[in-house]
Amino acid sequence: MASPYRIVPSKNVALIRSLEDRIFGSDASYFEGPERGNFYWLVKRGAVPVGYCSVRPSVFDPTHTVFLSRSGVLHAARGKGLQRRMIRVRVAWARARRYKFAVTYCSTSNIWSARNLFTEGFQPWWPPDEVGPWAGEDVMYFRKML
Ligand SMILES: CC(C)(COP(=O)(O)OP(=O)(O)OC[C@H]1O[C@@H](n2cnc3c(N)ncnc32)[C@H](O)[C@@H]1OP(=O)(O)O)[C@@H](O)C(=O)NCCC(=O)NCCS
Repeated sequence: MASPYRIVPSKNVALIRSLEDRIFGSDASYFEGPERGNFYWLVKRGAVPVGYCSVRPSVFDPTHTVFLSRSGVLHAARGKGLQRRMIRVRVAWARARRYKFAVTYCSTSNIWSARNLFTEGFQPWWPPDEVGPWAGEDVMYFRKML
């Protein structure tokens, strides 16, 4: 049976931001706006948004490397494989633009993200010296060759 969830590009930053607030709570102060080069997608069930994800050129290698910035799924829609679909959408977006690598990170306690990234072909990785571990040394960094 076809999935009832659709992933669609979105420029509705206010809606993305409100989803981020609901999903991340106080941690939502890290929201990255489009001025940093982010592109966004919404996950929708019918007309109802249940998740979002974003991608942008990386700071340290914007020509060749994209950064998978935040993604999240509301509780009611978790456990349905949506994070993997959102990873694939962004990888496809990056490949279509001829980027060579995708990088991202997640907290060490976020085993769901780590497992989904690994399943989608991301490998543990450490940022190069020029940029350093920009999100700290206690997170897991990943990279996928596109
Ligand atoms: C991490 C996150 C994006 C995973 O999204 P997802 O689409 O639910 O991922 P999956 O479908 O692969 O489910 C992952 C696991 O979540 C678990 N899960 C969490 N809440 C669940 C719920 N309410 N119902 C069912 N499963 C749930 C499932 O056990 C599933 O494990 P499984 O593979 O053994 O079934 C989502 O949990 C989330 O938005 N978390 C908060 C924000 C966050 O951490 N974002 C990622 C870093 S930017």
